[in-house]
Amino acid sequence: MVCGQECPHYEMNERAEFHRPVLVKELIELLRPEAGQVIVDLTIGGGGHAEAILEAMGGQARLIGIDRDPEAIRFAGERLSRFGAAVQLIHGRFSRLPEHLDQLGIEKADRIYADLGVSARQLESAERGFSFMREGPLDMRMDQSEGEPASKILQELSAQDLEKIFREYGEERFSRRVAKAIERKRKQGLKLGRTRELAGLVEAEVRSGQRIHPATRIFQALRIYVNEEIQELRQGLKGAAERLEAKGRMAVISYHSLEDREVKQFFRAGEKAGELGILTKKPLVPAETELRSNPRSRSAKLRAAERI
Ligand SMILES: C[S@@+](CC[C@H](N)C(=O)[O-])C[C@H]1O[C@@H](n2cnc3c(N)ncnc32)[C@H](O)[C@@H]1O
Repeated sequence: MVCGQECPHYEMNERAEFHRPVLVKELIELLRPEAGQVIVDLTIGGGGHAEAILEAMGGQARLIGIDRDPEAIRFAGERLSRFGAAVQLIHGRFSRLPEHLDQLGIEKADRIYADLGVSARQLESAERGFSFMREGPLDMRMDQSEGEPASKILQELSAQDLEKIFREYGEERFSRRVAKAIERKRKQGLKLGRTRELAGLVEAEVRSGQRIHPATRIFQALRIYVNEEIQELRQGLKGAAERLEAKGRMAVISYHSLEDREVKQFFRAGEKAGELGILTKKPLVPAETELRSNPRSRSAKLRAAERI
C-alpha cells in the first residue's frame, strides 16, 4: 500500500482545520475504554480519535496525547480544551514513551493506541515539503527542530543508499533509475531542494502505469527514512507493551505494508512469549461505507492486543 498524497486521516473543512480520523468506531470497540482509566494516544495529530474516545467516556479519563509535531500539539490542545485537566499533551517521539510517562509520574497505562503516518495537515502544508503536488522546500520532517531535511539526505547519501531507501520503504521498481538520476544531477552541481524539482525528476524516470502518481512511492520512502518511522514504530511498540497494565489493551492503525508487518510480528512474538493476547486475528479494515465517504481510508489496517 502507498499512503502518498491520499493519506486518509483528515479532510480540510471550510475553516481550514483537519478532521477525518479513520476506523473510529472499530478502535473504540476494540479498546473498550472504561471510566477512570489512563489512556495514551501516541499520535494525537488533530485529536480526532482522542476526542471520540473522551466523548465515549464522558470525559472520565486521563488521556495523554503525544506528537512529535508541535503544530499538532497546538491544534489538539485547542480542540480538546473542553476536557480540561483530563488531557495532557506532550511534544515528543512515541519511541520515548517510558520517559514521557515517567515525567508524568505514570507507571502503567490501561489503553495505548497509535494512528501512524502523517496527517493531512502535514501533507497539505506546502512549506512542510511532504507533498509532490505542492511546491515547497524538500523538508519532510514531522519535527523540524531535529534531524535532517530530505533535501540534505538527497545531497549526501550515495546512489546505492538512496536506491536501498526507495526500494525498502517505497517498494519502488525504478529505485535504481531514480537514484542514478539524482546522482547525475549532483554531478552537474545541481541541488534538489524543492518538492517539484524532485517530483519532476521522478516523473521522467518512473513509469508508474498505475492509479498512483509516479512520485508517490519515492516521496513516501524519503519521508519514512527522514523520520525514522520504522525504528520509531519498533521502539514504540516495545515501550507500549512494557507500560501496559495487566488486561490493558493496545491498538495500532497503519497505512503501509511495512508498518502492518511490524505490528503483526510484534503481536505474534508477544503472544508466543505469553505476554500478549491478539484481539484481531486479521486486521480490521474500513467498511464499505467508510471507504465510500472517505476514499483516503482505503489502506488503513487496525490491529489490537491485550496484555496478559
Ligand atoms: C495520522 S496522524 C494522527 C491523527 C489522529 N489520530 C487524529 O485523529 O487526528 C499521525 C500523527 O502522528 C504523528 N507522529 C508520527 N510519528 C510519530 C512519532 N514517532 N512520535 C510522535 N508522533 C508521531 C504525526 O506528527 C501526526 O501528527
